[in-house]
Amino acid sequence: MKHIDLHDLRKYSDALLSRDGEVITLRFAEIADAEALQSYFRGLSAQSRYNRLMGAASELPAGQLDRFIHVGDDDGFSLVATTRRDGVEVIIGEARYAIDDTNDSFEIGLSVDDGMQGQGIGAAILNNLECRAAGLGAGRLLGDTLRTNDAMLALARKAGFALAPTPGDWKQIRFEKAITRATQDMPCVRWRLAAMLIQSNPSLGRA
Ligand SMILES: CC(C)(COP(=O)(O)OP(=O)(O)OC[C@H]1O[C@@H](n2cnc3c(N)ncnc32)[C@H](O)[C@@H]1OP(=O)(O)O)[C@@H](O)C(=O)NCCC(=O)NCCS
Repeated sequence: MKHIDLHDLRKYSDALLSRDGEVITLRFAEIADAEALQSYFRGLSAQSRYNRLMGAASELPAGQLDRFIHVGDDDGFSLVATTRRDGVEVIIGEARYAIDDTNDSFEIGLSVDDGMQGQGIGAAILNNLECRAAGLGAGRLLGDTLRTNDAMLALARKAGFALAPTPGDWKQIRFEKAITRATQDMPCVRWRLAAMLIQSNPSLGRA
């Protein structure tokens, strides 16, 4: 699998649109995001946090937060979805992927702020992760979620993932998809160009 340039993470930022046209930037997390990312996790509903962390926690455990902001450590990569409110960048979602070169897979997890759910942002992030995985040459995309997590299961099903029990854990379901589409057929290029435009003129990204 190909690897990204860890010295210039901003060049991998993408601009997505929510269903009602709000511009969402999806960029790699940075060390400076630590506090905002923790506030984001604290602000999730207990149910969303439980679903995302697969267990009860009032915030992101310190070790995990540290991994989230150190992109590339242990082949794990975190992205934050942000929008601008009154000129200030606010985290409204996040995603994390881990690449496993031994079996060509790209393992993912994601969440969207409760107040922003149901606006197509989860679907856009998932599609974006598929683009990123294809761009890096991964053969399959997969994730595990609690079998009670109807929203994630419906989202995965709708995005064409196959569902099967997670090996070794009866409480979880694995969603999995082979990556067959060529990168050029996907919206990745358009998303990246839009992000570059917004970086050069931030007022374009204001809701
Ligand atoms: C799962 C999650 C990421 C979905 O994000 P979202 O932005 O609300 O999803 P979208 O608006 O893009 O929905 C896309 C599709 O998913 C399905 N879906 C989303 N939320 C759903 C819900 N609550 N119930 C049933 N289906 C749902 C629908 O098919 C929807 O398509 P539609 O709106 O055309 O019907 C979000 O609910 C979340 O963050 N949950 C908490 C964290 C979590 O569970 N993460 C998954 C762990 S891997």
